[in-house]
Amino acid sequence: MGWNSWNAHSCTVTEDDVRAAADALVETGLRDAGYEYVVVDDCWMADGTDGAGRLRADPDDFPSGMAALADYVHDRGLRFGLYSSAGSHTCQGYPASLGRERTHAEQFADWGVDYLKYDNCGDHRGRDAVDRYAAMGEALAAVDRPIVYSICEWGRSNPWEWGYNVGGHCWRVTDDAVATWHTGDDEFGLGIADIVDRVAALDIAAAQAPGGWNDPDMLQVGNGPDSAQSQHEPTDIERPLSTVENRTHFAFWCLLGAPLFVGTDLTGVSDDLLDLLTNEHLLAIDQDPLGLQGTPDRRDPTAEVWSKRLADGAAVALWNRGAEEREIRTHVDDTSVPTAGDRYTVRDCWSGEAWETHGTLSGTVEPRGTAVFRVSPVQ
Ligand code: GAL
Repeated sequence: MGWNSWNAHSCTVTEDDVRAAADALVETGLRDAGYEYVVVDDCWMADGTDGAGRLRADPDDFPSGMAALADYVHDRGLRFGLYSSAGSHTCQGYPASLGRERTHAEQFADWGVDYLKYDNCGDHRGRDAVDRYAAMGEALAAVDRPIVYSICEWGRSNPWEWGYNVGGHCWRVTDDAVATWHTGDDEFGLGIADIVDRVAALDIAAAQAPGGWNDPDMLQVGNGPDSAQSQHEPTDIERPLSTVENRTHFAFWCLLGAPLFVGTDLTGVSDDLLDLLTNEHLLAIDQDPLGLQGTPDRRDPTAEVWSKRLADGAAVALWNRGAEEREIRTHVDDTSVPTAGDRYTVRDCWSGEAWETHGTLSGTVEPRGTAVFRVSPVQ
């Protein structure tokens, strides 16, 4: 869990933005809720490497340098992350790490980096994904500092099959999530509903376990009309997320047990958004010790039921995909809830209210909304 600069600042990120994000994580209570890593995405580097092939921080945008920025982040009880790519260049055309993995991993460790997001852009020089990502995995393993290795290969070569074996701790399973509900256009990136559809179709829940996570991309929560934090005017396809879409987005990422990287500008963040990002019931579902990925139990064009087995029961989500408010109903027997006896406690993760059921679970759900219940057998 943490914050990443990309969805909020894209290629304009500066050290002031990163410091402000670190301060905001502390002041808003997000750090104490578990958002720990502060990751600088693409565009932190200067053009060209130094004589030894090392990366250099952009002298205008990061004048204090990366070691100083890492110190600033660490001093606030947070961890520090950087970005590079398994190619000649990053996606925005800056120098990257292919062929210089050892040098860069040592550099990252010297700077105090705790997390590396490793993208898939630039010239691959004929090398396949496993080879390229293994090279950085080995380099990170060889340095004297634990560094979380976040593989960002967009799911092109099934990283869920090899990511863990090359030292990865998580691997992106799709193209980028954009701050809208549905794009219908892969070139543009995927809307939130598109990502959930893609994850369902991939059917890769079995690839996930503690320490090796399927990553449906960073959160776009907050990048909508409530916050006006989108970096650009919406295009024809893009329409920022509404309040209810933000909630469904966050609920699904928790249900998937996904890495949670806030991607919105946290300076001046609203209380409503903070309430969503710190919802203790949803965070407990995301962080459940079994570390499983939620899976669909029932999908139809208007209503879906998903569930995720938890250490003491399961989370069950009822997602209204239609245009009208509707009641969605299921039964524990048709979900991942471990069935035992005939009494279950149910907690509504939005209201916090709890009740008992003999097995039926139902909720009245607004269009695009999701009811989320935590269900456990009564002992
Ligand atoms: C993409 C990646 C994004 C972001 C961007 C930076 O390839 O999927 O998450 O890192 O590059 O240029």
